[in-house]
Amino acid sequence: MQLAESMIEDWRAFTTNVSLADAVITGPAIIVTWGDGRVSPFHFMWLRDNCACNQCVHPLTREQVFEIADVPDDLAAQAASIGGAGALHVQWTDGHRSVYTPGWLRAHAYDDASRAERHRAGKAHPWAAEYGAALATFDWRDVEHDDAALHAWLSALRATGLTLLRGVPVEPGSVAAVARRISFIRESNFGVLFDVASKPMPDSNAYTSINLPPHTDLPTRELQPGLQFLHCLVNDAPGGDSIFIDGFALATHLREHEPDAFATLSSTAFEFWNKSATSDYRASAPIIALDGRGEVIEVRHANFLRGPIDAPLASMPAIYEAYRRFIELARDERFRVRHRLAAGEMWAFDNRRVLHARTEFDPQLGARHLQGCYIDRDELLSRIRVLERALPPGS
Ligand code: OGA
Ligand code: ZN
Ligand code: ZN
Repeated sequence: MQLAESMIEDWRAFTTNVSLADAVITGPAIIVTWGDGRVSPFHFMWLRDNCACNQCVHPLTREQVFEIADVPDDLAAQAASIGGAGALHVQWTDGHRSVYTPGWLRAHAYDDASRAERHRAGKAHPWAAEYGAALATFDWRDVEHDDAALHAWLSALRATGLTLLRGVPVEPGSVAAVARRISFIRESNFGVLFDVASKPMPDSNAYTSINLPPHTDLPTRELQPGLQFLHCLVNDAPGGDSIFIDGFALATHLREHEPDAFATLSSTAFEFWNKSATSDYRASAPIIALDGRGEVIEVRHANFLRGPIDAPLASMPAIYEAYRRFIELARDERFRVRHRLAAGEMWAFDNRRVLHARTEFDPQLGARHLQGCYIDRDELLSRIRVLERALPPGS
């Protein structure tokens, strides 16, 4: 459907197969009935606030110019009708007119069914060890040039939080080209890119050859990096396997089976410290973070990057019981995906969801060198949304 020229709904078109069947003014709302029987009330203030005409929205920036306090608080719809192209037309008591397309209204309706539908669609699906056999795997030689392949990879990364890329050139710096296919890189005190190898003067346990237990990177920052990439240049030393655990699966398991531990881990601030001769980073945050709806949005954990717990004596037994359970679960094979990276392979994972670990390796018997970098979650999500503007509607 063509939008009226004077309307600026968004940067993408909204379509729906469901038509608007009826629109009735009732109290301070317009009650819309859809062709499939769904009923969606829209409050006057909400509708007026979302007018997409080119007086209310700047035609170039597509950002709102209108502010809801510009109209009287008793503003009401004088008339509501279904007009051209099946859109909702509203005549306001102050003389303004607004038009809402069915696609836009359907996408933003906030009746219980519509909200539940959107909520379900955005929910993460935690995985356990079985995911190892179905690991979302992509080839850089496709992703590099093909936006559909890029979209498939990024969608899988968003959904599962763990993907493997093959065919990344075994040349230092290649990981940057892969990351930049998504967005700019998030630099840290370890560099734009960091080199994971056994170093003579390590400033992190990661840069030794010891077993590195499950962790997220930079839990010591207020905002942990959203995505982490680890590209394998060489992995000829015995050992050095990669292990991944879905932190959301651990949290879900605890929530269902050990609610006290879940409550403690999601409400107690743990201390995360990373100190070196030239830097001193600290963050104080729970291991399991919840959003406003109580859904798990983040896991933060690195046993080797912690400061002493700062809590009353009476809380210590429950805190340590919960923390021990979290570590035990992360050690449980039922939750672990294991794979040994080969040269040219690259992990891309959600560092605020998925814990990663590596087994000990022997640097005397072979070389091992990975390169890594970070990008924030926002960049991934923005990139996916922009790619989706170019896809056929409904795909
Ligand atoms: C790291 C890390 C994994 C590996 O550098 O933070 O987790 O396989 N490395 O060496
Ligand atoms: Zn308007
Ligand atoms: Zn790490």
